[in-house]
Amino acid sequence: MTAVGIDAVEVWTGKLSLDLAETFAPEQGDDPAKYTKGLGLHESSFPDAHEDIVTMGANAAYRLMERKGLTPDDVGRIDVATESAFDNSKPVSTYIAGCLEQVYDGDFHHANKGERKFACIAGTQSLDDACNWIRAGRHRGRGALVIASDTALYERGDAGEATQGAGAVAMWVTEDPSLVALSVEQGHGSADETDFLKPNQQFPSVDGKRSIQVYLARMREALVDFESVAGEVGPEEYAYAPFHTPYPGMVRKAALLAYRHTIRGTDVEDDLAGDIGRQPRRDEYDDEAAFDDAIRDYMDALKERPEYREWYATHIDPTLAISERVGNWYTGSVHLARLSALHHAAENDRDLAGEEVLVASYGSGAQAEIHAETVGEGWREEIDALSIFDRIESRYDLTFAEYERVHDRHNHAKQAELEAFTTPEDEFIFDGWGGMNERTYRYVE
Ligand code: CAA
Repeated sequence: MTAVGIDAVEVWTGKLSLDLAETFAPEQGDDPAKYTKGLGLHESSFPDAHEDIVTMGANAAYRLMERKGLTPDDVGRIDVATESAFDNSKPVSTYIAGCLEQVYDGDFHHANKGERKFACIAGTQSLDDACNWIRAGRHRGRGALVIASDTALYERGDAGEATQGAGAVAMWVTEDPSLVALSVEQGHGSADETDFLKPNQQFPSVDGKRSIQVYLARMREALVDFESVAGEVGPEEYAYAPFHTPYPGMVRKAALLAYRHTIRGTDVEDDLAGDIGRQPRRDEYDDEAAFDDAIRDYMDALKERPEYREWYATHIDPTLAISERVGNWYTGSVHLARLSALHHAAENDRDLAGEEVLVASYGSGAQAEIHAETVGEGWREEIDALSIFDRIESRYDLTFAEYERVHDRHNHAKQAELEAFTTPEDEFIFDGWGGMNERTYRYVE
């Protein structure tokens, strides 16, 4: 079967940043370590006055098309994943196509456009849709633009405020991809949950503590489902495991569970048994509470073991480098985790072609998906072409008072006036409202 997956990626980060330890924590009366150590976040990215999900998505897509030498005729599909949409009918992909048509001679009239919604997992679902479209032979030699774009804002004072972020990831999906090919095997864990939702409201209603448990439960189901089609997953089988990263501390919890699961019944479990015992098995306990206590004790001991720490440092920690500087990008988050990992491999001159990564996506409401990806021969060139860390460095650093005004600007109920902190150059910007209450955009040279 022909390999299908991501040929190239571009990223657009919101142009403003908020330092969580230096600027946010003191205003909350919090110890900065709650952010840097507990949540694992240093900074959040925010959109400037002229930015929104359309401009960030269009700017990432334009960069991608220019770098790959693509024209509108090469694009058979534009899928946008977002949970920050401002229009319940007209999809964001049409706004983005409209932007791109301002700078290209051709048009996207023959490209199938849509918008995917399932919280943060929609980015991966759009990727799956694009791959399936190609595998079904409906693409007529063209590729798909898959764009994950979000402005992840919470109500002021909500516990989630610390995990905000904004940015877009644009992916070019083709046959014989340079970056990664997606496995046909995939596992799902899905249930009707009310952990995080936006019932006709801009900011989410969140049951934060419960959302953590739902994330872990659905991930576990997805892993078991994946193993049922792909075979048992061993701890060393995948070079990296990029997870959906609402904040790095969430991934720390998920990684420990994943490690426990993948070493069960292996030599690693046997080798550890002398020091921390074997993993408690449910059928060895009459009482559920006693089993839960035993599991908790085992996990506490496991997370201190050098074997686990080394595994985490090798397979998980490198996936968090971008996320800890930009916060949660919802639909784009797991795709940043993949990029972080590949960037880490490039920095360490690792020859990754042919190796596999295990990608674990999650969306509240709730669903998890696990699939494998095989790194392509051209991965290094694609990663070297990205300058995400330079862009992160060049963001405007907000004071707390400025942050409050930025939040008000992007609050749909307030839409406060705000003079931009940065000067737009060679990019699409939001420039007002049309006669049917549509948002309008133009390209600034
Ligand atoms: N030094 C070191 N660590 C500290 C600390 C300090 N001084 N102070 C606190 N911490 C630790 C805490 O122990 C905690 O770690 P553990 O969870 O490992 O115990 C961590 O820092 C966070 O502290 P709190 O639990 O006190 O933080 P909180 O209650 O203010 O908020 C949250 C945490 C509930 C996750 C909140 O940020 C939130 O609601 N976020 C939005 C929802 C979310 O992201 N959920 C994740 C799963 S859902 C999902 O993934 C979908 C999505 O994208 C939204």
